[in-house]
Amino acid sequence: MCAMKEIKTLGQFIIQNQAAFPFAKGELSRLLRDLAIAAKIVNREINKAGLAEILGELGTVNCHGECQKKLDIYANEQFIAALKSGGECCIVVSEENDEHVTIDSEISKHAKYIVAIDPLDGSSNIDVNVGIGTIFSIYRRTTFTGTASTEEILQMGTQQVAAGYIIYGSSTMLVYTTGKGVNGFTLDPSLGEFCLSHPDMKIPESGRIYSINEGNYIHFPLGVKKYIKYCHEEDIPTQRPYTSRYTGCMVADLHRNLIKGGIFIYPSTSAAPRGKLRLFYECNPMAFIMEQAGGKATDGVNRILELEVYHLHQTTPIFIGSRAMVEKTEEFMRLYDSSQTRTQ
Ligand code: AHG
Ligand code: MN
Ligand code: MN
Repeated sequence: MCAMKEIKTLGQFIIQNQAAFPFAKGELSRLLRDLAIAAKIVNREINKAGLAEILGELGTVNCHGECQKKLDIYANEQFIAALKSGGECCIVVSEENDEHVTIDSEISKHAKYIVAIDPLDGSSNIDVNVGIGTIFSIYRRTTFTGTASTEEILQMGTQQVAAGYIIYGSSTMLVYTTGKGVNGFTLDPSLGEFCLSHPDMKIPESGRIYSINEGNYIHFPLGVKKYIKYCHEEDIPTQRPYTSRYTGCMVADLHRNLIKGGIFIYPSTSAAPRGKLRLFYECNPMAFIMEQAGGKATDGVNRILELEVYHLHQTTPIFIGSRAMVEKTEEFMRLYDSSQTRTQ
């Protein structure tokens, strides 16, 4: 007779683990619950995107000069709406809004948390049914008087109290950390619940997958070019040549590498000397998760989580994944790019 597998929902897991936080009053748990509710709504729309006329472009451009897709905006609205009605978040910083959004409803008067979000990551995959995601990062307010200033919002990655992502792939998963390891939950569509499927996720110390947009090769720094060459070389003890995998969705690429071992790189290019990916709501949350899973994240030299945040939408180069692989890229950057300064 096969034993019944115990199902633990995200809600149950959050409540059970809340006790591990001294002085926790449940606000963070409720905030995570609100994000999970929005994720389910967004997931529902994504699953019927081809039918619901929400594919394609909206005809507007965000503050990064990128065309906004209908689903970008839909996801943004859903996450902000869930955070508004939940009452635990006072400020939202989103990729899709130039400025931060202040939530000043009656129920949010005493809200303690700031949420940074990339509502839809991998937008170019939407219309072609390839993996997309959501990334979120949670900070505590540092003062509780008056309206928060931008300075109060711009906290370093080390100050995150929680971070997570949702991957809308062949199944939908929510993966998050509160600084005590990483846990993954798969959405069971028949229950409508995220259920614990990947407890205490750990990234392999090394791997043989490298993820980078090699189409930009000509514009990469020399250290990155040399590292790519290293990935191509044949060497049996280190299992090279490595395998190249790149989907155009950081969430999907990092999720795969987290499970299998690997490295994801979005370096500086001659056109974008500080890289493309956003520090506050893409790189910091992913770096927090990776470190909690035993991996590493740098900008080639410095730890991502310790980078100074001076702008809501600032970008950074990123090298993230299995510790040994990231350290190898650091070696290459030290050897070939020592003249470049990567801090600002
Ligand atoms: P977004 O869809 O939120 O703008 O993010 C896309 C990001 C990231 O997910 C992905 O790895 C990268 O941009 C792809 O960029 P390239 O097309 O330049 O490789
Ligand atoms: Mn993104
Ligand atoms: Mn996005």
